[in-house]
Amino acid sequence: MVDNQDLNSSPSSTSTIASPFYNYLQELYERYQCLDDGTVANYIPELALANPQWFGICVVIPKGKFFQAGECQRLFTIQSISKAFIYGMALEDHGRDYVNCKVSVEPTVEEFNSIVLDEKTNRPYNPMVNAGAIATTDLIKGNGATERLKRILHVFRLYTGRDLDINVPVFLSERSTNNRNRAIAYLMLNFGMVTERIEETLDLYFQQCSIMINARDLAVMTATLANGGINPITGERALDERYVQDVLSVMLTCGMYNYSGEWVYRVGIPAKSGVGGGIGAIVPGKLGIGTFSPLLDTRGNSVRGMKVCEDIAQDFGLHLFNVAQPKYNLQDWIEPNEL
Ligand code: DON
Repeated sequence: MVDNQDLNSSPSSTSTIASPFYNYLQELYERYQCLDDGTVANYIPELALANPQWFGICVVIPKGKFFQAGECQRLFTIQSISKAFIYGMALEDHGRDYVNCKVSVEPTVEEFNSIVLDEKTNRPYNPMVNAGAIATTDLIKGNGATERLKRILHVFRLYTGRDLDINVPVFLSERSTNNRNRAIAYLMLNFGMVTERIEETLDLYFQQCSIMINARDLAVMTATLANGGINPITGERALDERYVQDVLSVMLTCGMYNYSGEWVYRVGIPAKSGVGGGIGAIVPGKLGIGTFSPLLDTRGNSVRGMKVCEDIAQDFGLHLFNVAQPKYNLQDWIEPNEL
């Protein structure tokens, strides 16, 4: 399925208008459709069922248009991409200083699920690795499991503009098999970095990872961050503008795990990946990108998704520190009054 839609049209409607940027995404899709490097996540049976051929690219611009190629309606579990948005919620619930006492913002060379804390402060390294994400989930306010989950789903609805469901079999599998996350959580409990409601928080963490989105949703979520926290479709605020820079900073430095340094060097835009195959990336003020392809590299990042982000960033000179003339100008490819 390939289409190019106006943000104001219903999610199922399609338009035949082919802008140059739409053609560009279509070319990217065709270029990487044949790239078969990587493997589908198989640590739980539900994820192993993913078809390696699934592939979708969606870009949303803050002023109300989106462009897409491939399978952008196919649902997948958000997995670790949720960590960025939960971090935003924790900041809103407690403010920057308190959150910083519980979770650092240092990149780490360790794997995303390593059982390691900062030795001096006992804080997890950053909110994008599992330890940090469990700590930020612990910070989500609410009276009991149901209310806390409701709040998360409400905020994710603000980001996507639609109600989202949890993939219950994925949640149950994660809960029954993921003792590594349990070990991380109890280590943090030992150091007083998380509260006693640890099993409730772990459930919440597994549930947030099991929320189902598609590449379109992901592009709207990232476009919301690119748009200062306001969803460009609904006009609703999903994140206090004060915290957008915090979320984007940790996404830039830590969002691609132990590939983050190379990611900043090569791509240079904030991004977050998940083992469901999604990558969300943000060009502040300009674009939100959502890609989906379940073939992952050894670090858990989608292989095709990384290529797509790298090409978009390079071709349009979107790397944060780029000062050279880009190959293409975004203004020439997307109507200037839309940017
Ligand atoms: O914590 C876990 O193991 C998973 N539910 C999420 C991991 C994940 O997405 C890592 N990302 N690439």
